[in-house]
Amino acid sequence: MNTADTYALGRTDTETQRLILQNQIYGPVTRRFFEAAGIGPGMKVLEIGSGAGDVALLLADLVGPRGQVVGVEMNATIVETARARVNTMGWRNVTFQVGDIREVALDSDFDVVAGRWVLMYVPEPAILLRTLAARLKPGGIVAFHENDFSYPPTVFPATDLSKRVFGWSIPPEGATLGAEMRMGTKLFRTYLEAGLPAPQLIVEAPVGGGPDWPGYEYLAETLRSLLPALQKMTGLDPKAVEIDTLADRLRADITKVQGVQMLPLMFGAWARK
Ligand SMILES: C[S@@+](CC[C@H](N)C(=O)[O-])C[C@H]1O[C@@H](n2cnc3c(N)ncnc32)[C@H](O)[C@@H]1O
Repeated sequence: MNTADTYALGRTDTETQRLILQNQIYGPVTRRFFEAAGIGPGMKVLEIGSGAGDVALLLADLVGPRGQVVGVEMNATIVETARARVNTMGWRNVTFQVGDIREVALDSDFDVVAGRWVLMYVPEPAILLRTLAARLKPGGIVAFHENDFSYPPTVFPATDLSKRVFGWSIPPEGATLGAEMRMGTKLFRTYLEAGLPAPQLIVEAPVGGGPDWPGYEYLAETLRSLLPALQKMTGLDPKAVEIDTLADRLRADITKVQGVQMLPLMFGAWARK
């Protein structure tokens, strides 16, 4: 099996910080989704692709002290951050296993298998979902929260700068950046291919404006992480992007026109085994 690390966003501290900033924006959206999916007190949850631990922390809050969260993450360095954050919060019932989710040994008495921004990085998500569903008790919940770039980040009204950023952010036709950029709208089909019932779906997009909205930093930091890949793939010149000042320029530009920035849609899908 090819387990080469193709994570296009990189493996640096900057990427860890970007994931945490991303969660500040998307955390409330994910919480609403998990609550709709029926995740609650006392449940034992398998969480895949834990990253810096934000989803595990959110799940720990939902399942409470009688519940349990087991995270699986293949990047050993970021797991250290996740473990440190869990310790700081004082949760004793959250653990992480380091390894590729397609290869690690797992219990088979979970009430929930969940993940966010992870199926988009797995080459055959339906096969993985089928394997993971086998780790659930009967009636267990399969809940995944994934982006879809069919509607990329957009500013209303569009400004010259936001139009340029929009152009840089869209990968060229056929390019994947190592990820399925339309995973959100493919969740329904993926559940069916995995032999699961048709999932219920929910979609939400963060939107905001004004000087304090964190979306400008988030977009700039995402672009910063993707710059090496975009430079190679599209020839995007980092000098044209001026990444270090991009967030401030977006803030000034959008605030001046009292505009709003809508970030990528998040699709949630859930079904019971
Ligand atoms: C975009 S990050 C999302 C992190 C976290 N779920 C969140 O929402 O903040 C995706 C994470 O999934 C992990 N990942 C991708 N494929 C994996 C696999 N096959 N097994 C374990 N982890 C995987 C990556 O290493 C990365 O840390």
